Amino acid sequence: MYLSDLKPYILKHEDMERMKILIIDDEKPITDKISHYLAKRGYEPVAVNDPMEGLKKLQHEPFDLVISDIMMPGINGIELLKQVKNLHPETEVVMISGFGDMNTVIEAMRAGAVDYVKKPFSLVEMQLAIERTTKFLKLQSELLASEDERSLISRQLEQMIERDFIGDSPAIKQVIEMALKTARDKDASVLITGENGTGKELVARLIHYASERDKKQFYPINAAAIPETLLESEFFGHKRGAFTDARDDKKGCFELANGGTLFLDEISEMPLTLQAKLLRALEERKVKPVGGDREIRVDVRIISATNKNLKELIGNNKFRLDLYHRLNTVVINIPPLRERSEDLKPLMHHFIRYFSKKKNLPIPKIDPGIYHEIEHYDFPGNVRELRNMVERAMILSKDNSLKVSDFFISQNGHIPVAEANINFNLDQTEKKLITLALKKCNYNQVKAAELLGISRDALKRKRQKYGIEVKRSF
Ligand SMILES: Nc1ncnc2c1ncn2[C@@H]1O[C@H](COP(=O)(O)OP(=O)(O)OP(=O)(O)O)[C@@H](O)[C@H]1O
Ligand SMILES: [Mg+2]
Repeated sequence: MYLSDLKPYILKHEDMERMKILIIDDEKPITDKISHYLAKRGYEPVAVNDPMEGLKKLQHEPFDLVISDIMMPGINGIELLKQVKNLHPETEVVMISGFGDMNTVIEAMRAGAVDYVKKPFSLVEMQLAIERTTKFLKLQSELLASEDERSLISRQLEQMIERDFIGDSPAIKQVIEMALKTARDKDASVLITGENGTGKELVARLIHYASERDKKQFYPINAAAIPETLLESEFFGHKRGAFTDARDDKKGCFELANGGTLFLDEISEMPLTLQAKLLRALEERKVKPVGGDREIRVDVRIISATNKNLKELIGNNKFRLDLYHRLNTVVINIPPLRERSEDLKPLMHHFIRYFSKKKNLPIPKIDPGIYHEIEHYDFPGNVRELRNMVERAMILSKDNSLKVSDFFISQNGHIPVAEANINFNLDQTEKKLITLALKKCNYNQVKAAELLGISRDALKRKRQKYGIEVKRSF
């Protein structure tokens, strides 16, 4: 039987003490004895001496437990048991067997009886059989409840991933899979790497909410955003009077995140002195507030994020190797958006739906040219940039339709490069310039090379280097 089949029973049966028990035996003195005994112990017994009457009763009302004799005139107890199970699979049956009737007992157990008592039996033996059944049912109900809870979480999670975590590319699917697998271990440290705006914090949240720490805090902290003098107190807390401004005791982020997940954003920006203290806290699972003398036990999962190459920083003595090893039990790398073009369209639609709802606007019509444009754009700011682009376009759009010019605000057809958005990565910028030049010259390579100020051969080499295809639009 599937656990879920037990549901009606479990829902109905909140209070195990008040079990409704049907007693079926053709000998009245036996049913009288049992019901009297059970009624006194707080059960709700109903006794019948005719098996057919018993079945009729079962058709009209459910019972938690049936106690039935095996040998009865008119119907064999095994046959009765099968019919009971047919009517109410969730109803348990305890059989009363005659002396030396072991074969029938085995047959009854195979047909789904939960227990049996042998005649002649004492009432205590009967009581024990009922208690065993109750215990069994309670265990099953707990198991079902926990199964239910788990399946509920995973359904919620599935919805959350579908609703908030968008991506069709194999790369992003792998990221989700890694995040969910990692979530199952509640302690593993995770290092999430990726350029700005690729979704590192989103992945960190996904891990937290998919883990058993989900009822506790997800606490993000960014060392780069906190003045260096306050860092230690932000992380580990302080005692009143520990320094001039410490007027009260203050909890640090480790304590605030206790039981949950501490998300250390931009981990590379952490000063070396704090790195040493962080390592100690992680290794000992204890923190000491500034100005305090007592250490506090903490239990947190650490997820850190960086857009820098930590190995390079380690080589330059800017990051501790031992801390790096402590943080990177699992490493999840999110590739930049330009390397997963399959995600562009679904993400764009997602943000359009999101902003339509947020700004109370109808879903706009989309100029198909936009897809072409975004596919040839590099998105140095990754998903965040696309999100901002969609928001801006929706604000600028007219007549409920999105046009290329709403996305790429341009003078004379060029994609504008606002200073704040300049991508200083030479390779990426070179690739982008070459793509733009080719497009502007309608993929005439001689003209494009001229525009770029390089030879035709150089253009060819660079195209090969960056994998830029030449396509003409007719
Ligand atoms: N796969 C995705 N699906 C839906 N939204 C996404 C996805 N990836 C990123 N976003 C959205 O893009 C924005 C940036 O994501 P997030 O803040 O997680 O990036 P980040 O890598 O932490 O960036 P930074 O390095 O700048 O801190 C957020 O609004 C986030 O919700
Ligand atoms: Mg972030």
